[in-house]
Parts: sequence; structure tokens; C-alpha cells
Amino acid sequence: MQTDSSFTFVLFGGTGDLSMRKILPALFEAHRAGGMLHDHGKIVAVARHAADRDEYLQWVNEHVKPHVSKNVDQAAWASFLARIEFVKIDLGNPQDFVHLRDAIQDLPGIRVFYLATGPSLFVPICHALASVGLNQNARIVLEKPLGYDLKSSNAINDAVGEIFAEEQIYRIDHYLGKEPVQNLLALRFGNALFEPLWRREWVESIQITIAEELGVEARGDFYDNTGALRDMVQNHLLQLLSIVAMEPPHSMDSDSVRDEKLRVLRALKPIDPRDIGKVAVRGQYHSGVIRGTSVPAYATEAGVKPDSTTETFVALKVEIENWRWAGVPFFLRTGKRLADRVAEIVVNFRAVPHSALGASALRAGANRLVIRLQPNESIRLYCLAKQPGEGMNLASVHLDLAFDQFFREGRMEAYQRLLLDVIHGRLALFVRRDEQEAAWRWVEPILNEWQAANRPPKPYAAGTWGPAAASAMLAQHGTCWLEEEN
Ligand code: BG6
Repeated sequence: MQTDSSFTFVLFGGTGDLSMRKILPALFEAHRAGGMLHDHGKIVAVARHAADRDEYLQWVNEHVKPHVSKNVDQAAWASFLARIEFVKIDLGNPQDFVHLRDAIQDLPGIRVFYLATGPSLFVPICHALASVGLNQNARIVLEKPLGYDLKSSNAINDAVGEIFAEEQIYRIDHYLGKEPVQNLLALRFGNALFEPLWRREWVESIQITIAEELGVEARGDFYDNTGALRDMVQNHLLQLLSIVAMEPPHSMDSDSVRDEKLRVLRALKPIDPRDIGKVAVRGQYHSGVIRGTSVPAYATEAGVKPDSTTETFVALKVEIENWRWAGVPFFLRTGKRLADRVAEIVVNFRAVPHSALGASALRAGANRLVIRLQPNESIRLYCLAKQPGEGMNLASVHLDLAFDQFFREGRMEAYQRLLLDVIHGRLALFVRRDEQEAAWRWVEPILNEWQAANRPPKPYAAGTWGPAAASAMLAQHGTCWLEEEN
């Protein structure tokens, strides 16, 4: 089947890390799948660091191929390379954008400009595109981080917004493209079972964890000026939270979903600076051991200042001020160099209001739903069951759904889904400006308070679950982080 949307996909930052690891491999997977990309669709890579198309294709062969899935069919790879054109651009040279326009003006279909560059280049590139009329009938994709705080993010959005209308702008948060995040919508709004219980009367607390084993890799310099709150909380974690907590949208069209997410973001209870020590924990990893391998301390990583106070771990208690969620704590946590790579949402339900089954029922706990986003996508529902034998002794047991056992084919990586959405003009999985602003508005007082207090982050050994204070925060609410074996 042939899709009917032809396209010209112009990739700025064509030799960058993101293009190498994510964007070009995702385009290749879509190409290889057949029928997902229009036969005449072209990829026009833009970069400074290659002389011409031949040199660029050589770079793609050397650097991108290792990142596509194994057993690459040579014919598919060759036909993928045939889609790629190259334009060398020096941003300081306006004439180069005239060449870009000339190179793409006869190519058919919708134009997508993907800015896989640092945010400081977003505005200059948009101006340069507009100067040669390339902002007309085009879509622009902006990678995160979009700014450093509310002010800088507004400045970028204002400037880009003068050149592109909001419906032309696709702000990427790759977590929204992950299959299990889509599945969360299916679970909540495709089943009658969960929604009636998905509220304060039945939910005691919710945890959302994105834990990484990786450190800062080759991005020490960027990360040291960013930290976990900006890198993971302002975007991925708050987006997950808004999907977990939102009201059922009336349809899945882009604005219905995004309107509901926005309502949640606007209902986040502002953090009172006096309470910050009780509701927010920031940590930084020291050396440690992960899966038997010693790893260095954050402060000794390349690009990181030796006396850095940047956080590599954050845990937060968040509340949502609306009828559905008032009083229910949402615990968010993310960190680098933790004990395991896992992203999951844990819904802790309340215990039954009265236990006719005696003390063992109370000891056995309450229902809990664990939605695992990665590494092994699954849903696990903890229930209580009677232990065999005499007496009424209850134990916690679980019902498991492992998605790869049900659906063996058709999985898509986040970037593949999102790039296809851009090409087909589907905005639902991209962050609207007002959502982004609401998220910054909520996060900023935490950043300001941390900066004003000027305290070093709490240390934690690499390979653990972060500073003890993160567990103490939950203990105050009579609960603990769920940490299961993968
Ligand atoms: C990115 C962050 O947005 O998400 C990285 O900048 C982080 O620091 C990454 O490692 C995590 O994404 P994933 O898909 O590997 O969980």
C-alpha cells in the first residue's frame, strides 16, 4: 500500500548525534516497512561537516547503519540512500539558504524542516528559511530542550511563532511516541473497568519513575548546564503525569487530547518554596557499580565541572488541584546511573473500606496496577487471593499482560511514529505551546528555590535507587517506591 503524502524532509543537524542515533534510523525503518513513506519522498540532509552528497552518504554508511536494527537488507539500504540528498549550509551565509530553496523547490509534497540542532539555532534557522520563503506550506519540528526556562522558551516560541503558525509547529517529546504511552490511553479510555476507579475515592497514590542506568555519556557539557529537572521532569515526566491524570477527551483529535493534558498541567499545585525540602529531592551520583561494572562519579565525567552542583536525580511529590485528584500524591522520580533501567507508572489503590476477611487481608496489602513502559512493556495487576489450605489467609498475587506475547509484530519506535505523524500532519503527539508554558511555569519555582538555597545535591552511589531522602519522602506518606526485578 502506498501512502498518499509525498514529502521533502529537510534535516538540519544532519551529521549530529540525534540524526545518527534516532532520526535517520527511524526513517530507514519506515522506509523498510514499505508503504509508510511515499515512493517519491526525499530526505534532504543539511550540515556543515560534509563536503557533498557522496561524503554524506559515506558518513551515513559508517555512522547510521550501526544504529538500525540488525539484518539490514542491502537492497532496502541502497534504496533508502537513494532518497537522501545533501545540502551544505553555513548558517552565517544567507546565500546557502537560496541554494537550499533551489535544491528543494521542484521536489513534490509537504515540506518538513526538522531542527535537530541546539535550541540556540532554532530562531536563526527559522529566520533564514523565511527569508527565502520556505516557511510557506511547511512544517517545522523542534527538538527538546526548547529553552532553559519559561523566559527563554517563550522567546523561542515567540520568534518561531512569527514565522510559523502554531499548527505548523511540531514540538517533539519522544516519550509521547512510545507504544506503551499510547497503550495507556487505550487502557484508560478503551476499557470500562479502570476509569470508574481512576480517582481520589479509590486511588491512594501514584508513582511515575523513569530510571536510567546510563550516565551522561558524551553529553556532559550540555547536561551540566541542564540537570534532571529540565532534562526529564519539565517534559517527559509531566507529559506522562498529564496522560495518567487527564479527563477522558471527547475524541482523539489533537486538540481534544492536548486540551485535557493542559488542564492537568494548569491544575498542578504550585510548590510552596517553604515546603521544598519536604516535596522535592535532588541528588547527584557518585562512583559506584552497575551490573558488576565500576562507573565514575558524575563530577569526574567529561564536560562536567568538578565542583558541579547539577542534579542527576530528582524525586517530587506533586498534587493536582481538581475534583478527581485532590489529596492524592503523585510521586515522580528520575535519575541517571540508577540500579536499573525502567520506566513505569504505579497506581496504588486504597484498601477495601472494611475487611470482613480479617487481619491477613489487611497485611496482604491492596490492589496495585503497574504499567511498565520499558524495558519490557507490560501491565501487572496485583490482587489479593486466598492461600490454599485451612483458614482465610490472603496473599498478594498478580495478573500479567506482556504485550510482546500478544502482539508479535508491528511495533514502532517512538521516533518512527512521530516522524510519520509529522509527515502526515498529525499533531496529537506533539506538545502545544500552552502545555509547554504551563509545565515551565510549574517547574520554575523549584529551579529558583534550588538556585537561591545553593545547597549541593544529595549524593547517591551509582547503581542504587538514589538518595535515601527520596525513600524518606514516601515513608512520610506511609508508602515506598516500587522496585521490582526486571
Ligand atoms: C532524553 C534525555 O530526552 O531522554 C536523556 O535528554 C535521556 O538524558 C533520554 O537519557 C531517555 O530516553 P529513553 O527513551 O532512553 O528513556
